[in-house]
Amino acid sequence: MSSASSLDAISSLCKRRGFIFHSSEIYGGINGFWDYGPLGCEMKRNIKEDWWRATVRNREDVAGLDATIIMHPAIWKASGHLDTFSDPMCTCKGCKKLMRADQIWDILRDGAIGESLAGVLEGGADAAKVAGWCKGKAKGLAPNLKAVLDPEALTAAFGKIKAAPEEYADTERLYALLADAGGAVTPCPYCGGELTEPRPFNLMFKTVVGPVDDPANVAYLRPETAQAIFAQFQNVLATSRQQVPFGIAQMGKSFRNEVTPRNYTFRSREFEQMELEFFIRPDEAVELICGKVTRMADKPDLGAPAASWGWEVWHKYWVEQRKAWIIACGLPADSFVEYWQKPDELAHYARACVDIEYSFPFGVQELEGIAARSDFDLSQHQKHSGKSMEVFDEQLKLAAAKLDDAARQAFSDKVAGEWAARGKAEDAARAFVLKLFDGRYVPHVIEPSAGVDRMMLALLCNAYEEQKLTDDKGKEDTRVVMHFSPRVAPVKVAVFPLVKNKPEVYNRAREVFGRLRKRYAAFWDEGGAIGRRYRRQDEIGTPWCVTIDFQTLEDGTVTVRDRDTMLQERVTLEQLEEKIDAVLIY
Ligand code: GAP
Repeated sequence: MSSASSLDAISSLCKRRGFIFHSSEIYGGINGFWDYGPLGCEMKRNIKEDWWRATVRNREDVAGLDATIIMHPAIWKASGHLDTFSDPMCTCKGCKKLMRADQIWDILRDGAIGESLAGVLEGGADAAKVAGWCKGKAKGLAPNLKAVLDPEALTAAFGKIKAAPEEYADTERLYALLADAGGAVTPCPYCGGELTEPRPFNLMFKTVVGPVDDPANVAYLRPETAQAIFAQFQNVLATSRQQVPFGIAQMGKSFRNEVTPRNYTFRSREFEQMELEFFIRPDEAVELICGKVTRMADKPDLGAPAASWGWEVWHKYWVEQRKAWIIACGLPADSFVEYWQKPDELAHYARACVDIEYSFPFGVQELEGIAARSDFDLSQHQKHSGKSMEVFDEQLKLAAAKLDDAARQAFSDKVAGEWAARGKAEDAARAFVLKLFDGRYVPHVIEPSAGVDRMMLALLCNAYEEQKLTDDKGKEDTRVVMHFSPRVAPVKVAVFPLVKNKPEVYNRAREVFGRLRKRYAAFWDEGGAIGRRYRRQDEIGTPWCVTIDFQTLEDGTVTVRDRDTMLQERVTLEQLEEKIDAVLIY
């Protein structure tokens, strides 16, 4: 199955079985918005609960937060979103469509023009075939392409392809040539027309707070959940009995007015994030307290956080924590990669950023990111709000008190030198060190930031399988099965009465269903042959199907059938619950 058709098959299953629907479908849908149906909302809830359990409940060093979606607009000025949270956008002068400048070639390749050109290029670039395309199919597909509109442009392109066919054997090169014989133009991927220069387009959704539609009342739907964590940092610190290093976690809706939402739910305009801001001591404070800073070169044991860890180790620790969670949710370790952003790709304040990239059917793309953001965010809010974001660290104050004047001077000189090497001002370094001696600093932060919808899409893509089966009589059949991890599966167990016209069996099955549904998301199905019922559950990824039959009435055992192996065994209800708990309780 091609990647596109596998995404088509997955989205069609999601619609058919109630995982994901187009938002506002009865009115033709609204681009970039998706609704989660009965099974989808269960699965999404499982992902979020699992993240919350792993990130907050199962740890002693993380506290939770649930902040509002609309916040004071000054937050977005301080965070930089008002000034810089934008995508470069082009408009086509021909068809008037808007698109992200960095997605033009992707749109072309995935669209009808790209598909048609790929056909033309089968076996290499042939000038006559290309000319035939321009005079035929392209009139409907790319009517504003120069070589379609202007015979002279076509003649020029024809000559170039004839002279060097190997140069135009790929879709992009050929399309650019057909737009301009110089090949310097990027044409519209929808019609071949001329594009405007890219212009920044802010991705935040604007709204008005209160009855008066006045610029003074403008507010924004949050484009990320993270900023509320910084804005509430001092309140959480004061009330949670936490001390640095510790984290604040939040999950919830975020909104981005994406220019070209695409690839199903991958890039939506309304989506959910699960974000952790894990606050750590600046390395200089660690050095004063521990006498050294542990770095990755020291090969630390990443399973056991230590006071001497510097930012680099904390960052790698969180990369590993996030990978372990992703694997536990059911994505195999070889289905995603760590992409370490290069120095020129990093934001100016960031020390490191790792994207976890999953191999989606439409390409290897970001699933989530883990960034080491220094003290940028808290410092920005300190500057813009005028409220201190510093913490007082008793251990630091005690450690500094042990230094004599010479040692203090030497430490200050060392930090000033290190900061200068990173292009930071010496007087700022010395002021920072003076605060450290007083036990005060603005914490640095490691930010693991994940998307619920993206994780769910990856899990759907990973789980989908069409199995060819042959029965005892040699009859071939296709079984569609979603191999979800039981942790995220929307239904954990399905309960079937073997027959529905025998009240003893039927009522016993209802009793079993009543008992199981108190503990697990359970589903009742009494319709059709057992084999058909199994298939219906396979298609939604239910790990276990339980059948109640005549033997159940005699000895209390039921048949449990495993989704992946399709093997059945007889167990008591207690054994069944033990089996399920062994997987679901951790
Ligand atoms: N606070 C950092 C932050 O928001 P980001 O890389 O912009 O970083 C984090 O977003 C995660 O949120 C992404 O890795 C992705 O999983 C999810 N995400 C971002 N934009 C999204 C969109 N338009 N649709 C779906 N998920 C999105």
